[in-house]
Amino acid sequence: SHSRPDAADLLVWYDRHRRALPWRAEAGAVPDPYRVWLSEIMLQQTTVAAVKPYFARFLDRFPTIAALAAAPEEAVMSAWAGLGYYSRARNLHACAKAVVAAGGFPDTVEGLRKLPGIGAYTAGAIAAIAFDRREAAVDGNVERVISRLFAIETPLPAAKPEIRTLAESLVPARRPGDFAQAVMDLGATICTPKRPACALCPWMPPCRARAEGLQETFPRKLRK
Ligand code: ADE
Repeated sequence: SHSRPDAADLLVWYDRHRRALPWRAEAGAVPDPYRVWLSEIMLQQTTVAAVKPYFARFLDRFPTIAALAAAPEEAVMSAWAGLGYYSRARNLHACAKAVVAAGGFPDTVEGLRKLPGIGAYTAGAIAAIAFDRREAAVDGNVERVISRLFAIETPLPAAKPEIRTLAESLVPARRPGDFAQAVMDLGATICTPKRPACALCPWMPPCRARAEGLQETFPRKLRK
């Protein structure tokens, strides 16, 4: 007897608790695809706190994607130094050149996926956040939220396709970009791996894991 999780309930929570992050537009404003893309690449293997100063410095040195594309490889690598996973920086530079050559970012998941360094997660995030497409951005945090909401018994990684389908089914037609970031914020601040703050969660009523008191046991993982 669980209701389905409603995107509107999460968006109400997001409007109250939205984190002010440098790559986010003001509430209601259209974000810049360059900033959205740059932040999503930096956030792939790095925490929000660590990314913030790099993001600011990067925009200082390369205010536009054209400036980034035109910069020497060494300048890009030196601005990236300290963030790690340096293939990200090389792909970033190659992607900037491709986008400038094409006259701008593609505005669909299919187009975005063809660019260097952009996989399923990043393509979904950019399409939803920068272009208001009804797409899901499924990373590890979102997998945790979805696996708890629906008490998915299949362990990761086998559960990934099922989780993606469920995540896509929740994306609303209005405000898909805010919805994507709301799920990310929920996973980062409420639906945490240990001791999730269920009492503060806008999706506690429909959460199947929580109803059984089993929230911390999801996502199921293959025993090593
Ligand atoms: N992690 C990855 N992308 C993010 C975003 N846009 N906002 C907050 N956390 C994130």
